[in-house]
Amino acid sequence: MRLNVTVNGEPHEADGVWEGESLLHVLRERLGLPGAKNACEQGECGSCSVYLDGQLVCACLVLAGQAEGREVTTVEGLAPEDELSPVQEAFLEAGAVQCGFCTPGLIVATDDLLGRNPEPTDGEIREALAGNLCRCTGYEKILDAVRMAAARR
Ligand code: FES
Ligand code: FES
Repeated sequence: MRLNVTVNGEPHEADGVWEGESLLHVLRERLGLPGAKNACEQGECGSCSVYLDGQLVCACLVLAGQAEGREVTTVEGLAPEDELSPVQEAFLEAGAVQCGFCTPGLIVATDDLLGRNPEPTDGEIREALAGNLCRCTGYEKILDAVRMAAARR
């Protein structure tokens, strides 16, 4: 099937999309946007987090066909090219990035949290990021980064 979707403000068309194909696969393999990571493909790790019409979703759980005619924002769309968003800067400065595999998903999830709740408590941060798994950092630096990003908004 042919898919028409707007990604990071730009219209895209993809041909030959198969019925069971995920939005994550389209983003990474057809549109050349590798920011959303492919780890579990089961909605368990949050590494593929993107916005779909402004709602935070796991792109691995969204069928490409469900994105027809809709707007997707990936981590690549959170800041102008060659610039970092305030959340990305905070993650770097706080040392919240080790292997980096979880980072794009955490950045999008943090962006979503702070958009809804600019001054989250630690409990609210933990709850909002509970679906984003990190195998490296132990989460303390990630919490520091989210607090830093919130304080700067
Ligand atoms: S790859 Fe989508 S939640 Fe893990
Ligand atoms: S920094 Fe490696 S999984 Fe989070």
